[in-house]
Amino acid sequence: MASNVSELTTYKAYLQGEWKKSSSDETIAIQSPYLRKTIGYVQAVTQGEVDEAIKAAHKAQKSWAELSLSERGAYLDKWADELVNNSEDIATAIMQEVGKGFKDAKKEVVRTADLIRYTVQEALHMHGESLKGDGFPGGDQKKIGIVERAPLGVVLAISPFNYPVNLAASKVAPALMAGNGVIFKPATQGSISGIKMIQALDKTGLPKGLLSLTTGRGSVIGDYLVEHKGIDMISFTGGSGTGRHLSKQTAMIPLVLELGGKDPALVAEDADMDVAVKSIMNGAFSYSGQRCTAIKRVLVNEKVADELVARLKSEIEKLTVGSPEEDSTIVPLIDDKSADFVQGLIDDALNKKATLVTGNKRQDNLIYPTLLDKVTEDMDVAWIEPFGPVLPVIRVKSDEEAIELANRSEFGLQASIFSQDIDRALEVARQVEAGTVQINGRTERGPDHFPFLGVKASGMGVQGIHHSLLSMSRERVTVLNLK
Ligand code: NAP
Ligand code: G3H
Repeated sequence: MASNVSELTTYKAYLQGEWKKSSSDETIAIQSPYLRKTIGYVQAVTQGEVDEAIKAAHKAQKSWAELSLSERGAYLDKWADELVNNSEDIATAIMQEVGKGFKDAKKEVVRTADLIRYTVQEALHMHGESLKGDGFPGGDQKKIGIVERAPLGVVLAISPFNYPVNLAASKVAPALMAGNGVIFKPATQGSISGIKMIQALDKTGLPKGLLSLTTGRGSVIGDYLVEHKGIDMISFTGGSGTGRHLSKQTAMIPLVLELGGKDPALVAEDADMDVAVKSIMNGAFSYSGQRCTAIKRVLVNEKVADELVARLKSEIEKLTVGSPEEDSTIVPLIDDKSADFVQGLIDDALNKKATLVTGNKRQDNLIYPTLLDKVTEDMDVAWIEPFGPVLPVIRVKSDEEAIELANRSEFGLQASIFSQDIDRALEVARQVEAGTVQINGRTERGPDHFPFLGVKASGMGVQGIHHSLLSMSRERVTVLNLK
């Protein structure tokens, strides 16, 4: 595994099928969250270059859409192969750039290749439909509707830092397979990983101009991209604040938003504690809680709260803390600002008399896993997404109280329910406002062919391979009026 960053690379942007320096002559330094130094530079792409990239994508898209599904799929399958062939190098970039454990970074690359291949197969197996007019009162048998799917044009894919390859490819692959051109704007912290992912795609001989990679700060080129008249659809994953901003900037174009969460684990008094503890630990603390689907609060019945808290404490104290190069579970957060934010939530809770069970230790941006018990509704940590390794426990008297607290959140991504009574678990699940409710398991996005969505401030529209293909294409209806 390479961790030598002494020779710093200035990465070029991928514009109209060429690797280019930006005419801005400006680059952005990418800092590693755990090495705490610059590991490379990416281009700050200009608005003029965005214009050219979008123009080229429209031109290339026309002939791309005329290729057969199998021909398009062949490029994508080759891309998946290239990702796997280069998985060590790409995983090293992910590890260094976003501080994800090397093994998890490698899994992200392999998962991405699987996702791309599945996307190809799914697109190949999606069928249109035909309808006959006489299915409606007074309709004519000789009127036949043919419903096919058509591309939208040029899709803008904006991804977050925490899955810089997987959450980018989960937009790029369905967009291309559905016959669109793509403008890909990676998270700035995540750009190097995104560039390596596109280098693999470039090796497939993808038609020039069909996809461009526009690196640059969201605060600088973000609005320009989002408001651009040449963009026909936006697929965005990131924070709820950014998502809300985007939904105000866009008008009359399809928008899919996958946003933040405050996923609760509801633990009933009849829960299998082994299952609950294992799922909560894994759900809350992997990658230091920097997952949208991390378990971010526990709503436990007071009858089993002492037992649960004691068992969580014991497991938390066994977690490995340190470097992603050693595959530690708890790693430095993406930057110091994020660590300050998490520390602020812990401090607020402790000032308001939450019980510190374990944790509340910090070195720079490395926050030790922290368990807070007897958290109350007046504490920010009860409601705000930390994106860090802090887990608040709220004790409840009944399922009704747990459901009420779960639903009072502005978020609604996922939730977990732990009970050995399946009827009871299902009854609770149906009352929790979330895109997905997991019964006796941790909150998570995968498997990637499942629909994935958030409600309320957690999102709009649906991802997951099948639904992404649908959202990146439209119905095209042709009606035959036979004699
Ligand atoms: P973020 O700060 O919202 O950034 C996400 C993306 O938006 C980045 O590419 C960012 O670019 C870009 N951006 C920022 N301002 C923009 C603007 N005005 N116009 C267009 N793009 C703009 O989120 P993050 O910190 O990377 O990710 C963490 C958040 O994402 C958490 O809240 C997490 O829950 C959420 N998330 C949700 C899901 C899901 O599927 N529901 C998955 C992963 C993460 P820059 O990096 O250049 O600013
Ligand atoms: O961070 C948000 C991701 O969509 C979570 O994916 O549940 O597979 O970790 P995951």
